[in-house]
Amino acid sequence: MIIFNIELFSLFIMTIFMVCISTIIFFIIIIFRTTTTSRRKINLPPGNTGLPVIGETFQLISAYKTENPEPFIDARVLKYGTVFTTHVFGERTVFSADAETNRFILQNEGRLFESSYPGSIANLVGKHSLLLMRGSLHRKMHSLTMSFANVTIIKDHLLVDIDRLVRLNLDSWTGRILLMDEAKKITFELTLKQLLSIDPCEWSEKLRKEYMLVIEGFFCIPLPFFSLTYRRAMQARKRVTEALHLVVRERRIERECGVKKNDMLAALFDSDGDDESFCDDEIVDFLVSLLVAGYDTTSTTMTLAVKFLTDTPSALAQLKEEHDTIRANKGTSMALEWDDYKSMPFTQCVVSETLRLSNIISGVFRRAMTDVKIKDYTIPKGSKVFTSFRAVHLDQENFEDARVFNPWRWQKISDPTNFMPFGGGPRRCPGYDLARVALSVFLHHLITRFSWKHTEEDKLVFFPTTRTKKRYPIIVEQRYDVV
Ligand code: HEM
Repeated sequence: MIIFNIELFSLFIMTIFMVCISTIIFFIIIIFRTTTTSRRKINLPPGNTGLPVIGETFQLISAYKTENPEPFIDARVLKYGTVFTTHVFGERTVFSADAETNRFILQNEGRLFESSYPGSIANLVGKHSLLLMRGSLHRKMHSLTMSFANVTIIKDHLLVDIDRLVRLNLDSWTGRILLMDEAKKITFELTLKQLLSIDPCEWSEKLRKEYMLVIEGFFCIPLPFFSLTYRRAMQARKRVTEALHLVVRERRIERECGVKKNDMLAALFDSDGDDESFCDDEIVDFLVSLLVAGYDTTSTTMTLAVKFLTDTPSALAQLKEEHDTIRANKGTSMALEWDDYKSMPFTQCVVSETLRLSNIISGVFRRAMTDVKIKDYTIPKGSKVFTSFRAVHLDQENFEDARVFNPWRWQKISDPTNFMPFGGGPRRCPGYDLARVALSVFLHHLITRFSWKHTEEDKLVFFPTTRTKKRYPIIVEQRYDVV
């Protein structure tokens, strides 16, 4: 009991101590930033930095926790223009809602700007992850990732597994399902197969549950002492990396015995032969970040595509017609082939429109490596910058009736320069083709095998990530009218 009390007391003292130290550091940083900037008379983009330390963080979070977060950006764009200054998550941040500025920032990665992830994400993905790599190593590993997920590889190797695993998952669907959870299960299994050639099993399901805990820690204060969610996420990361270390060790032994596999891990082993070789820690961090990057994004897009289609019956009817025709032409063969994928023009419109409207990654953070002139302003060296894809995608200047789900618009758009759901420049998402194929195959099997009803009110929210509050419950019913 006494020990318990002493522990509690020291915990209390430590908490007070940490709070005081962090507050002092915050104020020192703010005073330093304010004085150096004003001393140099820098013409910053206009804006409001809100309250000391907190800035406009609460306004941003409360807007993004609703179905309609747009007023946060709209109000500032109206007042200050498409490039403005705000202060969120403890730092002054230049916010760009301008397509051209976003392109400029992303294309100057490594020269004028560099990627900048919150501390929580950086710790959880690991220091050797692609997301945190810089310079020539980043270029090399980004192109390695591209070469494992390019169109030829998808067509010749990955499509077969995508199709098989989607069908396998749908086999067990009956009655009421939580679509978001089912979609997450599908994309995790797909990614695990592509990275490590591992088919769904008890081990993969256990790993997925650990992974969900890791992702929950992404938007916490990265101090295990203060945040239980973050502490749990770090512990789960430890278990995930231990499990992956084991797989990597076993695969090295198999490889020495001459067993060859055709997956991302094999590509990483093969690039061992280049100038530098990768140790197991580097390989594991790399795998952790790829699992993170592909898993949540694609599954959320799958769910929201279904939501938008359910809310827009005319689009669903046209999509159904496209997929029923493909199925009718295939006779008894269930598996989709590349030619089938290439005959889904309206599906591509639905995928693009879902990506535009839902903006799973609403934008990305960068940090200025030097003073950078943008429009008539200067962004000082070290400043945080947020390129908002969401603001551009939902701007009426860029897309007519921008806030309405209208897949038909993509039948007319020939030059989608303002459309950047996968980012741009050297960090452009290497999984963009893979995501499109997975989404199309999923929609095909869902639509040709089931009809569904959405019976419960469910709301979209955008903080900490884009998702529906109740994980989108639907009631599915087998279709018997398709060949
Ligand atoms: C709908 C699905 C997806 C969306 C919307 C999406 C979006 C994005 C965006 C916007 C970025 C740029 C991040 C930045 O500039 O800092 C990115 C990076 C990345 N994505 Fe995706 N992604 C999707 C699916 C995938 C898939 C399936 C993979 C699997 C290979 C993947 C792997 C990656 C990786 C590894 C990066 C980091 C690239 C780098 O930093 O060089 N993504 N993604």
